[in-house]
Amino acid sequence: MNSTAILDIQAIRKQFPILHQQVNGKPLVYLDNAATSQKPQSVINALMAYYEGYNANIHRGAHYLAAKATDIYEQTRHKIAQFLNAPSSDEIIFTRGTTEGINLVASTFGRKMIQKGDEIIISTMEHHSNIVPWQMLCEEKGAVLKVIPITDSGELILEEYEKLLSEKTKLVSIVHISNALGTINPVKEMIQKAHQFGAKVFVDGAQGAVHLDIDVQDLDCDFYAFSGHKVYAPTGIGALYGKRAILETIPPYHGGGEMIKEVTFEKTTYNDLPFKFEAGTPNIADVIAFGTALDFVADLGKNNIATHEQQLLEYGTQKIQEIEGLRIIGTAKHKASVISFVFEDIHHSDVGTLLDNQGIAVRTGHHCTQPLMKRLGLSGTTRASFAVYNTFEEVDAFIAGLQKVVKMMR
Ligand code: ALA
Repeated sequence: MNSTAILDIQAIRKQFPILHQQVNGKPLVYLDNAATSQKPQSVINALMAYYEGYNANIHRGAHYLAAKATDIYEQTRHKIAQFLNAPSSDEIIFTRGTTEGINLVASTFGRKMIQKGDEIIISTMEHHSNIVPWQMLCEEKGAVLKVIPITDSGELILEEYEKLLSEKTKLVSIVHISNALGTINPVKEMIQKAHQFGAKVFVDGAQGAVHLDIDVQDLDCDFYAFSGHKVYAPTGIGALYGKRAILETIPPYHGGGEMIKEVTFEKTTYNDLPFKFEAGTPNIADVIAFGTALDFVADLGKNNIATHEQQLLEYGTQKIQEIEGLRIIGTAKHKASVISFVFEDIHHSDVGTLLDNQGIAVRTGHHCTQPLMKRLGLSGTTRASFAVYNTFEEVDAFIAGLQKVVKMMR
């Protein structure tokens, strides 16, 4: 099968130096993109250019380097606002990643808005990072965590969601795309339903921002968080969108420099958005490279990337089903480019090791979704996840690799 005509995948691959290596004597086939994506040369160059040419602290210096660094740093905020179609870049807060975005909202919105007896709704398919911060908050506040059940194919049961919603619901925090199953959740519809009860909605976009065109105004979500490293940017950097009206009324996250207007020993007044939520010297280099990664995505076109990934998903799904004794975990109607699977008779970690011996990188285990695995009666799965630089030939290599695993183990 040929690559999509829209994108020149071979030309794209040339931009990713890491892909051109042998692992265990075989050409690397990198299919662990849901864990982290590889970085194009432009992103690597952006990091070098900052440190080699204009390393300086931002928002503070009275000199050329500081002004240049500040400028380019703030351009990324604009790019993220565009990427999410946020009304204003003041509503974009830099974080270390999705996890920090969730913790920020739990600590600020949660601290102020959640009271004893209030309810927070999450779902069975959440990543630990969208469970534990809410659990901690509920414990502290005497609030109650409610969980939307799922079907065996890995879709939310929306009638059950509607039954959970009530005047007590203060927040719904829901994953846009499941990292373990690939399920794309109908978040827009869920947000409308939550708003009918006056509840706010947080969307965990760690995978969603990678595969979907995001429009936070159309979704009408109250918060949307994602990580840079899954969209071709460095690790340790991410962004949180929040509606201005909410961000203005909730307390800051960390205290320190930059997040203040004025400090006296008696009282501190806080800075305007978004700086109120950004204490201390930030991760300047990675923010700058984050902007370069978003340029890379914009140049290719989010929809073109999604089309290619969907083609890989369809092709891989069809091929993998030909392997005897293999069961796909997560067969939702709307899915992103993730194939999770188990064998009746071969442990997922053996599958991962034997694929790695052939140069094929996948993830195995519970994927930080232990409650989901428990619901599905599994200890874990093997997961292959595709990005824009993956090819149909790599899917063939993966399937052939699995056939070898089966031969070795049976
Ligand atoms: N949450 C990431 C994954 O699914 C790390 O692999």
